[in-house]
Amino acid sequence: MRKQIAAANWKMNLTAAQAHTLTHALCTSNPAVEDNRLVILGVPFPYIPMALSVAGATKGFAIAAQNCYHKKSGAYTGEVSVEMLASMQVEYVIIGHSERREYFNEDHAVLAEKVNLCLAGGVKPIFCCGEPLSIREAGTQNVFTETQLRESLFHLSAEQLTGFVIAYEPIWAIGTGKTASSEQAQEMHAHIRSVFAGQYGATVADSISILYGGSVKAANATELFGKPDVDGGLVGGASLVAEEFTTIINSLQ
Ligand code: 13P
Repeated sequence: MRKQIAAANWKMNLTAAQAHTLTHALCTSNPAVEDNRLVILGVPFPYIPMALSVAGATKGFAIAAQNCYHKKSGAYTGEVSVEMLASMQVEYVIIGHSERREYFNEDHAVLAEKVNLCLAGGVKPIFCCGEPLSIREAGTQNVFTETQLRESLFHLSAEQLTGFVIAYEPIWAIGTGKTASSEQAQEMHAHIRSVFAGQYGATVADSISILYGGSVKAANATELFGKPDVDGGLVGGASLVAEEFTTIINSLQ
């Protein structure tokens, strides 16, 4: 059975003290996350040691970095490698978030290199895809999103994609308060799964957790996560508030 995942993406928010308080609150109010459910905290790099020490021992919790560099090591001042993350026992890393694609010009090829380094280094990617508003309005979101997956992931083997994590985040729904309807989310998630099924077969496709991201909050999580191909969420703003994110965790199916 594929994992149902509530993943937080704190982005560039919170002081160290606030991050500690939030992590502590989440761990104490969610003591028993069940077997096929997982909470992932995507924290800024400086807070990784704190998050690992506070949440690392809590059953069902894992820590993610929000990015990594696309080269193995070397003279890249200010960057963080997969090897560094792996050496700290960071289990996940968010790859290809739309903010990184847009503000840091990350293209399909760079993202493929990052994914390769992650898989070789033992850090699991959470691979983000999703269309801007203009593409949604033109009605070409399926082909747009499919291309993102094909160009950065379809060189991988079936084994490498088994149990993989994808986050579908329509850009027009990120930080706007405008959520995709649960029907729109289900339609795209089913499409994404069918694309993997077409290339790799149903067993691989059914093992992939496809998270929805874009204005997920306590009030809409149950509706979204109730859809058969929505396996949880990647949550920005609402993951910064302990009670909100706890309700989102408890909305996992
Ligand atoms: P919001 O939940 O703030 O819309 O952000 C979504 C997101 O980008 C998560 O990665």
